[in-house]
Amino acid sequence: MSVGNSIPHDSGLGHVCGESVFIDDRAETRGEVHVGLVCSSIACGDLIEIDASEALRHPDCLGVFTAKDFVHKKWGTIVHDQPFLVEDKINYMSEPVCIVASRTRDSIEAIKHLVKLQEKAAAGIFTIQDARKNQSVIYRALKPFVQGNVDQALKMAPHKLTGTFTVGGQEHFYMESQAAVIYPLENGQLEIHSSSQHPSETQRTVAEALGLSLHQVVCVVKRMGGGFGGKESQAGPIAAYAALVAQKLKKPARLILTKDEDMKITGKRHPFQNEYEVAFDDDGKILGVKVLLQSDGGAYADLSASILDRAMFHFDGVYYLENVHIDAVCYRTNNHSNTAFRGFGGPQGNMTMESIIEDIAHFLKKDAAVVRLRNLYQGPNVKTPYGQNLENNMLPEIFRQLITTSEYEKRRVEIDKENLKKTGVLRGISITGTKFGIAFTARFLNQGNALVNLHLDGTVQVSTGATEMGQGVNTKIQQIVAHGFGIESGSVQVMTTSTEKNHNTSPTAASSGSDINGAAALKAVNKIKVNLIGLARKKFAGEVSSALKEYELEQNAETVPLDPNFIFQHGKVVELSTKKEISLKELISIAYQNRVSLGAYAHFKTGGLGFDKEKVEGKAFNYFTQGMAVSEVSVDEYTGEVKVLRVDLLMDLGRSINPGIDRGQVAGGFVQGMGWVTTENLFYDERRNLISHSPTTYKIPNIQDTPREFNIHFIENLNNDCNVYGSKAVGEPPLLLGSSVWTAVKHALSYRSKSNMVNLTSPATGEVVLMELTRLKRSP
Ligand code: MTE
Ligand code: HPA
Ligand code: MOS
Repeated sequence: MSVGNSIPHDSGLGHVCGESVFIDDRAETRGEVHVGLVCSSIACGDLIEIDASEALRHPDCLGVFTAKDFVHKKWGTIVHDQPFLVEDKINYMSEPVCIVASRTRDSIEAIKHLVKLQEKAAAGIFTIQDARKNQSVIYRALKPFVQGNVDQALKMAPHKLTGTFTVGGQEHFYMESQAAVIYPLENGQLEIHSSSQHPSETQRTVAEALGLSLHQVVCVVKRMGGGFGGKESQAGPIAAYAALVAQKLKKPARLILTKDEDMKITGKRHPFQNEYEVAFDDDGKILGVKVLLQSDGGAYADLSASILDRAMFHFDGVYYLENVHIDAVCYRTNNHSNTAFRGFGGPQGNMTMESIIEDIAHFLKKDAAVVRLRNLYQGPNVKTPYGQNLENNMLPEIFRQLITTSEYEKRRVEIDKENLKKTGVLRGISITGTKFGIAFTARFLNQGNALVNLHLDGTVQVSTGATEMGQGVNTKIQQIVAHGFGIESGSVQVMTTSTEKNHNTSPTAASSGSDINGAAALKAVNKIKVNLIGLARKKFAGEVSSALKEYELEQNAETVPLDPNFIFQHGKVVELSTKKEISLKELISIAYQNRVSLGAYAHFKTGGLGFDKEKVEGKAFNYFTQGMAVSEVSVDEYTGEVKVLRVDLLMDLGRSINPGIDRGQVAGGFVQGMGWVTTENLFYDERRNLISHSPTTYKIPNIQDTPREFNIHFIENLNNDCNVYGSKAVGEPPLLLGSSVWTAVKHALSYRSKSNMVNLTSPATGEVVLMELTRLKRSP
């Protein structure tokens, strides 16, 4: 049976052999034009003039286009506030100002340099503090999440701490930069090939930009070389730039950002500064907590509002908060427009509580794991700060198992002892957790559709709106469909994603790609099976003959449930009651000869969702993917260098569709999260130019940085019956567990502080760690 097996990623071989086709691997077509972007050299101010005269004289220049050339000048997923190109106001450094079209790729840079921009700089807003002072706001939470009586709890509590948790942004660092190739077709149509997580949105953005209707634009996505959220919204304008050139010049057009351009132009994870007050008792039980989450949205709205919402939904982390008040605001600054990034605000909320717990433990001189257990969600049906019950709560069991298998207690005692010695190396250990809410918080996005074609040789082609970015969604859909038909997974091919086959699709995001599209595919499979079962029933009853006769199945495949008396297995269809069987291929052949449909389209929506933001009630999430990690680090007291010595990670992924792929997601997600909180530092000069704009200056984890010992396990959970085949989404949740590396650093530093609180910001780069160590050592 296909589901549950660790079959290889369907592009695995292609990737390692270099045969997989990414956007820029597409062969150049005749007359193809190369597109480049000229960007602002100030972060805030006015665009006075664009002088393109010299550029236009370059022999390879085919045109220079500006904001005027767009029919609709602005784009945006939630609100249309972001100009495709600067019209008059410049709102961030390296904001696209105009587009150049070149005969050759080699001439793009030269042509760009010949475009002269006259800009007038003004003072910008670059920090959350400044934005707050100026009340420069993109979005405020409609209503805070409130439970119990926080003010009362804070007044009465034996202990209180206040503080600010500061966490930086993160560059997506996908291997394939933002890219698009556009082919003009007949009747003004355009065919877009885009590295996009959201083909429908890219289609819409291009259509709006150029004044086309949606039926004139097709967006095709074969795969991405990584997306990580960075191509959910921001692939749209990239395609629009190339599309404008294709439309104007009536030629194919290609825009491939260089890594450096991509890092400067596109948005990143939102930095947050979260101010809190927390009340607790002698045991570390949290009596009340009040928090204001503050994010830096950058220059435009993008997805910032939804991201802020998700931060609110994940502030509680894995801890029950009886008295709680969560408020949030997203500020507008003159930074690049920040966007979706794996976790979607969840990590910034979740990590705040983990930091607070670390502080409480240090304050009380207790083991932080004990404080965590004291506050952990207990019981099968506990209430979150937003009123949804945590059903099927696996957290206590995960905690118990992980503390045991990681030998936490033994190692903690050993670390206590080791850190007394003055070796110049401190060690720290910490456990953190997450219960990541699975569903788009915008309800309408929780839908998908699928097209399944069963061919005469018994093989299947399936198309959905899901986009493959390395996470293995195609492989999982392949397995789901193969399982449904009872055939080998090799007999199923997931086809290139295209808005022509699947429309009105949601982004492949919120970790729900295989949940939604897998469920839609299964629904389509079942529709075909209903027809086949109807036919098999007649065949086994001897009603199907070779005489010319119509076999009306008269069933509406949409509403008829599958007859459990028929099973599809090992390429056969079996009637259980009679033990009669027929090969699927033969049944298909009979179906075709008898003009029975062998294709189906299905629409799926996640049931039961409906969170009311005004009332703060209802069901925000379909279920929660839960997990915890124990990380141990060493900190060099002379350099501040952090090494991750060992990580033990335990996750509840329900019944995994492909444990091998899930393991890859868990390892990759964790390491990406760990990079975010340790070495990945976005560094800007005083003009707000991003200095860390390439692999040489922006430090993502490499193989030496991965934990020296890395134990990944899944916990048995057969109870998730609200998702396809009992599986649970995996894409984002493990990223949140990277926070355990940061809290372990915080724990290590606590050994150098008697009374002072450790005041660590994230990322805990070598410099940050060293400065904090110095501060702690200098003060008593
Ligand atoms: N894994 C790889 N290899 N590359 C990616 O770009 N994106 C992550 C995650 N895992 C990503 C990845 C993000 S942000 C999300 S939301 C999910 O994959 C999306 O895919 P899924 O919904 O199919 O899990
Ligand atoms: N998660 C990820 N992406 C999204 C969401 C979400 O909740 N909402 C809109 N895009
Ligand atoms: Mo993922 S941030 O939801 O694309």
